[in-house]
Amino acid sequence: MNNTTTNNNLPLLVSGMRPTGRLHLGHLVGVLENWVKLQESYRCYYLVADWHVLTTAPDQARQIRTRTIEMVADWIAAGLNPEVAPIFRQSKVVQHAELHLVFSMLITLNRLLRNPAVKEQAQSLGLEEIISYGHVGYPVLQAADILVYKGAVVPVGEDQLPHLEITREIAHRFNGLYGEVFPEPTALLTKFPRLPGLDGKRMSKSAGNTIQLSAEPEEISSVMRTAFTDPLKLRRNDPGRPEVCLVYTYHQRFNPEEAGAIEADCRSGALGCVDCKRRASAKIATALEPIRTRHHEIMKDSNSVMDILLDGETRARKVAEETMNDVHKAIGL
Ligand code: TRP
Repeated sequence: MNNTTTNNNLPLLVSGMRPTGRLHLGHLVGVLENWVKLQESYRCYYLVADWHVLTTAPDQARQIRTRTIEMVADWIAAGLNPEVAPIFRQSKVVQHAELHLVFSMLITLNRLLRNPAVKEQAQSLGLEEIISYGHVGYPVLQAADILVYKGAVVPVGEDQLPHLEITREIAHRFNGLYGEVFPEPTALLTKFPRLPGLDGKRMSKSAGNTIQLSAEPEEISSVMRTAFTDPLKLRRNDPGRPEVCLVYTYHQRFNPEEAGAIEADCRSGALGCVDCKRRASAKIATALEPIRTRHHEIMKDSNSVMDILLDGETRARKVAEETMNDVHKAIGL
């Protein structure tokens, strides 16, 4: 198959991210590289979940537009091909909102309030007592995102499984009431675990433990100096334990040819952490260089990102309109 044609027999896959601006190494290794590969074996639809930002942070609306452009430029720089896989904003395909309305009648409020993913999110944002109607409905909107394209497969991390379960329940309920319209989509769990942040915890912007995809080599070396290593390796020549060292994890991922030698030299005490970090930084910088350059190229003409979105939205809308025709017919409206 030539990579600019889409094969209609492939299963349909939908995934998305909330627009957070420029992405980091955790997004690249845990999500984006996977999305790029999936383009070969699925018909992929990648959406910017801009309405979803308003569910938790309606006051941050003004940042959505620039963050969308920055994020989509990173998607493309990392290898998504918008000619194969439409890239679009949820808010610009109005059928997401329409289907969300229909779905909101097909799930009980109690079921949504029991969803552990929304509960945890509300807790961590301090919103437990003042959670909005829309925030409780976060997974209902996500169900619409997926099912408006009759998505059969959704690549997600473990944390998103409760949401996907709700998508399946809603599809099941709709089909039971009105006739078979929707697939019950299945999760495609990411094989590579998310790359940990510089402190060993989940890499996230708010935790301040990221390596940004935009980082220049000097910046990578300087944040790498803060990376957690084996706490028992105090001096340069102390023997270290690669299995508890974060920098070794990075070597495994970005420097596989030398990882064996690095492991041995760390254990024997021949390799100090400063050198080891310098070598990891250099490899990461090399890996990020093409992405950084492409991002820069793309952003020279930020209208090009908008053109890609507008084109993706036109294509997405066509499919979404057909689904909504089926929905209206099935309900009998
Ligand atoms: N909830 C997802 C997240 O927080 C983003 C998302 C929105 C999504 N709609 C989706 C993911 C549809 C997969 C499919 O990352």
